[in-house]
This record gives sequence, C-alpha cells and structure tokens, in this order.
Amino acid sequence: MDEDKAAKADEYNETHRPQFHFTSRKNWLNDPNGLVFFEGEYHLFFQHNPDGREFGLMAWGHAVSRDLVHWRQLETALTPDALGLIYSGSAVVDWDNTTGFGQSGEKPFVAMYTAAGKPFTQCLAFSLDRGRTWTKYDRNPVLPHIAGENRDPKVVWHAASRRWVMALYLDGSDFALFNSPDMKTWTRLQTLTLPGCDECPDFFEMPVSEHKWVFTAANDRYLIGAFDGHTFTPETGVLPGDHGANFYAVQTYSDIPRADGRRIQIAWMRGGDYPRMPFNQQMSFPCELTLHRTPDGLRLHRQPVREIAGLYGEVKEWHDLTLAPGDNPLRALSGDLWDVSAEVEVGAATALRFQVRGAEVLYDVKAQALTALGRTAPLKLDGQRLTLRLLVDRTSLEVFGGGQVSLTGCFLPPPDDKALVVCAESGSAKIVSLTVHPLRSAWRSE
Ligand code: FRU
Repeated sequence: MDEDKAAKADEYNETHRPQFHFTSRKNWLNDPNGLVFFEGEYHLFFQHNPDGREFGLMAWGHAVSRDLVHWRQLETALTPDALGLIYSGSAVVDWDNTTGFGQSGEKPFVAMYTAAGKPFTQCLAFSLDRGRTWTKYDRNPVLPHIAGENRDPKVVWHAASRRWVMALYLDGSDFALFNSPDMKTWTRLQTLTLPGCDECPDFFEMPVSEHKWVFTAANDRYLIGAFDGHTFTPETGVLPGDHGANFYAVQTYSDIPRADGRRIQIAWMRGGDYPRMPFNQQMSFPCELTLHRTPDGLRLHRQPVREIAGLYGEVKEWHDLTLAPGDNPLRALSGDLWDVSAEVEVGAATALRFQVRGAEVLYDVKAQALTALGRTAPLKLDGQRLTLRLLVDRTSLEVFGGGQVSLTGCFLPPPDDKALVVCAESGSAKIVSLTVHPLRSAWRSE
C-alpha cells in the first residue's frame, strides 16, 4: 500500500478516535450549530478551528448525514470576517421565503450566528445549494449588540403567529426571546433568567403528547411551559438535564419532517483527552427527546436514535438468568464498541455493576442512584426493576437509566483492556434480559 492509501485507511481509525460519535477530521470542535434537516440530509455545523487542535479562530465546520450515524465532513461553511469570529447559532429552512433570499423557487437555507467581534452582534447567512456554499447577508448585523457578550441565536418558526422566534443568550444568567417576520428585523418579547445557566439557548415545541414548549440552556438544564407566540410561561422550575461530566451546548434539529416528528438533540462532549490525535473533542450520539407526565411533573426523556441499529453486528442475548455474586455472563466478550441494554430485577443484590474497559457504571440499590465515570444521578427503581443502556465508544460512554436520566462522559481506556463485566453484589439479581450489540465503525461501514 502506498503511503497515501495507508494514511486514508488509518483515517478515522486512530487509537482514541470515536467510531460512532462525530469528530472533525482534523482539529478542534465545540458546539453543534445549525442543526437542520433538509432534502434528505441532516446537517451538523459545528464550532471549529480549522487551523489548530485548540479553540482559536472560530468558524462553522460542516458535516452531513442521511441517517444521523454516518457523517461526511464538507468544506468549512462560514469563516471569520470584519464583524468577528463565527460563534454559535442555528439554521432553518425558510419555506415561505420570508427573507427574500430565495431565487426562482429555491428554498433558502438560512443560518443565524454570532459575529464575535467588538462588540458581539447577530448575523445572517444563506445558502441556495443545500448548504454547500454560503453568502453572508450584506446588511449584517441584523441584531445589534444588547449586553455583555450576547450570543448563540436559536431560531424557530412559530406557525400560529407566522413569526420567527429567536432565543438569545444575553449576559449573566439572562436570556431573551425575540420575534421577526423576516429574520432581518427583531422585536424583543421577553427576558428570562435561569439561575446557574448561561450560553446556547434552545427553544422548541414538543410535537407529541403534551404540546409544551421547552427552553434549554447550554448545560442542558431546562424549563417546560406554554408559549403563545409572545410570552413563554414556565410551568416548572429549572430542571436538571444530563448528569455526566461532558455534555454541553445542547441543540435540537430544526425542520424534521412532520411525518417523522422526532425532536433530536446533539451536545458537545466538552472536555475529554485525546492524546496525540489529529482531532480534538467529540459530539454526543444523537438522541430523541420525549415529554412525559411523571409523578414528579413534566419531564424530558432522552434515548439514542434508533438509527444506531444500522451499526449492529451479531447480537448476544441472555434472558431470565440468575446473576449471583462472582458471575459475569459477559466474560467471553472483548471489544470497544457496544450498545448494551439490560433489564434487571435487583432481588437481593445491593448493587449492580458494569465495567467497561475498566470504567465503572454502578447502580446502588439502597441509594437508588446511578453512577458512571464518577458522576451520580438519582434513579428510582420501577418496583424491583432497573432498565439501563450503555453506548460504548473508544473514548466515550453514554449511560441511560430508562429514559429518565443520562450520564454522558468521556474516558480514556487502556488500549489493551477490551473487557466487559456485569455483576451483582452481596446477593443475587435476576437478569430479565441482557442484549449486547457489538457495533461496526460508522466511518467504515457505509
Ligand atoms: C459555548 C460557547 C458559545 C459560543 C461558542 C464559541 O460553548 O462559549 O457561547 O458561541 O462556544 O465557540
């Protein structure tokens, strides 16, 4: 194999390269930006320093996928200009050409982003070729500076009022909502303060069951309430989101077709360590959000999108198995990419423990708490029953307790440890079902 071919075969296959979580081919990434579905493609724009492995001269990188699993990185979409660096924002399809950017029936694909200059302002860009090339609006900025380093516009179409609605981070813990007929002139509707939160708001209607609006901040904490096009009225306090150490700058997809109706979210897995890698940082695996009325009130649940099944290898399953202390039914398995689902009756066990390449996931029965990679979330049993799901990639571990809680984290396992363990402590538990799917690499399984 010549050197060039060898380099290609190794690309996306380095020791610490995630195999089904998005990373940029090279260099730094942070927030997901401009998540939008258009003409069969999921777009993932992302905060990107095309020139280095650390945060720097920020641009919008760009990748597309037809299934949220296999991604192809395209040319960098938006690069810095006289107004500033290109910080986070969102994208929408302007179906009715309210911006007038569309020509000869072409639906404009519009991005709204922060120009991080002096001062920070909000700007528009549009594409008439499915996001391949972009033109910045010649009258930018469309929203002048308001406060601090105001940033991260997230735009959504509000059909009943026929207005675009924008959520924007202002300063401190303050956010604001605006509306506009054309994305070019904006009217402030409301200011919202979310204690303990800042940056990257998202604001969306849940299309199923309860029809509420959800307002999230970068750290995934959220409010649920009602929105009439002018005023968002929270009906909850600020609720906790993901409990892991590496889950930030959450954003959901715009323009998912009505027939699909899913609300799909991606986060930047902020942090982690990728020694000697050409890339730096990864995205969380796309998850579907659903809204539930629970005994504690309305809550969002989060589960990996079903498209992950496209990576499944030969499944291993166990049913109705007594798990006595010292047993490990996963003893024979070895690998680094897994989707593991378990339903367990805890029985006499005081804890249920998974070990993934040395990293620990522990359910403590007495404390009714789930710990993964050193972070803990409360998780009540359903009677005796515990439902867990683990997505294991080369440098990430996402743990789901039912849909209720999730712990998203980065880890750096020893390259030679490929072991999986499940065990019960101090007494026997019963495995109702245990399903282990080895996963193929998304980079080499198109
Ligand atoms: C969040 C954030 C945003 C900002 C972007 C810059 O991680 O700080 O507020 O727009 O990153 O890359």
